[in-house]
Amino acid sequence: MADSDLWAYLNGKLVRGDDAVVPLTDRGVQWGDAVYDSIRTYGGKPFQVPFRIDRFFRSLQYTRINPGISKEELAKATEEVIDANLPLLGPDEELSINYYVSRGSMQMTDGRTPAGTVAIFCRLVGFAAFAEFYVRGGAAITPATRRTPPECVSPKAKISNKMNHFVADMEAKAYNPDAFAVMLDLEGNITEGTGSNFMFVSGGRIKVPDTRLVLSGADMDFIGELSSDMQIGSDEGTYTPYDVYNAEEAFLTTNSFGILPITSMNGLPIGDGKVGPVTRRLTEAWSDKVGIDFVEQALKHLDPELRETLQAERAESV
Ligand SMILES: Cc1ncc(COP(=O)(O)O)c(C=O)c1O
Repeated sequence: MADSDLWAYLNGKLVRGDDAVVPLTDRGVQWGDAVYDSIRTYGGKPFQVPFRIDRFFRSLQYTRINPGISKEELAKATEEVIDANLPLLGPDEELSINYYVSRGSMQMTDGRTPAGTVAIFCRLVGFAAFAEFYVRGGAAITPATRRTPPECVSPKAKISNKMNHFVADMEAKAYNPDAFAVMLDLEGNITEGTGSNFMFVSGGRIKVPDTRLVLSGADMDFIGELSSDMQIGSDEGTYTPYDVYNAEEAFLTTNSFGILPITSMNGLPIGDGKVGPVTRRLTEAWSDKVGIDFVEQALKHLDPELRETLQAERAESV
């Protein structure tokens, strides 16, 4: 199954992937003048839909785009797209469901402008790209490119123009093709990954970088829920790489991989350089809540030799 075969919603209609096209004059195409959001399924069930729809509407409000569709209508269209696509999935495949609304014109009514394109389109979750890091941990690099400050464009909004992130990501990957960029703000404080939130564990407590500087991640919010259930304390603050270098553990969160351990920053191992107990407990609690061992599921997308090696390493580490 190719992504282009999956069903999409485009301006009120369900269409097959390849027919879901937008004109070159769409303002999102030319200028990235659009907002988006993403949801993933676990075992075919979409995760945190109300949180993501609420955030999507906050992004639309901030960018002054009137989507011409209500939250309830968007939720219903989401269900229709998922129902159309689930029968097309193979074993251990999951959907990434993406919202996209571009601005139609700069003509304002009551301070807002009309939508151009309103779309929901799907991809398969690309497990093979990150499965290994669940077991071995990923490497973080803080690139020279800094995160756009809230005084310019609010990082809380999910805006389609991600050039700030992409340039940072390529800088990190030029050093290490497997690395995840973790961006600093203009003062050198830790903000977030280029498509994920970053958190670390210090003194047994989860440290959350200043939420003024980052996307209000749905998966980060879920960590808050899990950690309070598990009675793990957390603090929001202003942190620099110094704090991460001296931390016990670190991890990223996002819709595609959920939670992913980070075991080094800028070439320095974090803690003992292995996936730590807090990250492991959070991953297990997450799996319990969504009813699927998503690490094992991801490993199934690797070639058999690597999969077996990683399964053995995982079994040894618990
Ligand atoms: C910049 C950025 N930060 C954080 C996230 C994580 O957000 P969520 O957990 O809601 O998927 C994303 C996800 O796309 C992102 O692009």
